[in-house]
Amino acid sequence: MIDETDDPAAQPVRRDFLTLLTVATASVGAAAFVWPFLDSLNGAAGDDVADSRVDVDLSHLAPGQQIVVVWRGDPVFVLRRTPEALRSLQDPALAAQLRDPRSAEYQQPDYAENWHRSAVPEFGVMVGICTHLGCVPRFRPRPGSGEGYLCPCHGSRFDLAGRVLAGSPALYNLPVPPYVIAGQTLRIGEGPPGSRFSFGNIVRL
Ligand code: FES
Repeated sequence: MIDETDDPAAQPVRRDFLTLLTVATASVGAAAFVWPFLDSLNGAAGDDVADSRVDVDLSHLAPGQQIVVVWRGDPVFVLRRTPEALRSLQDPALAAQLRDPRSAEYQQPDYAENWHRSAVPEFGVMVGICTHLGCVPRFRPRPGSGEGYLCPCHGSRFDLAGRVLAGSPALYNLPVPPYVIAGQTLRIGEGPPGSRFSFGNIVRL
């Protein structure tokens, strides 16, 4: 669905993402096959977060599986992390390789300002836009070292919480959108009651 070549010029960037999804959807055909990659196209491009909520049913997401949904025209990675993945995210050896292990920079809501960068440790929710020049990082579900995301354009690496590894061209962690999880439903585009997070004020998309 996304070009697998190593040529940076051939890699998808943010503006190309919807085009790629359209092509992918048309070529795959049946909605049942599309779902793991694209759960919903309800999100609308634009700046009005309140008008762009996307609901995702988490009940079909298996441990270790990731789906991509579209919110405001951007890909959002929704990942169900395994217990092993959660242990690896707390590994001091990994933390030592990260540029911003504690999410000190304003790249996420306050409820995701933690080691797992999420409201619920089991579920990762991140905007899939590389904070270097906007390509779409690839999911690399390899247990052990190297598990996470690799940007095909210039090699930036992120862990399974979207934290960027030091030495990458990207300087910032993947953004986390406002969201809330209630039962088995994830709603992207709306934070929990009382949340004042503004996605428009994050440091880098
Ligand atoms: S756009 Fe991702 S490393 Fe350059």
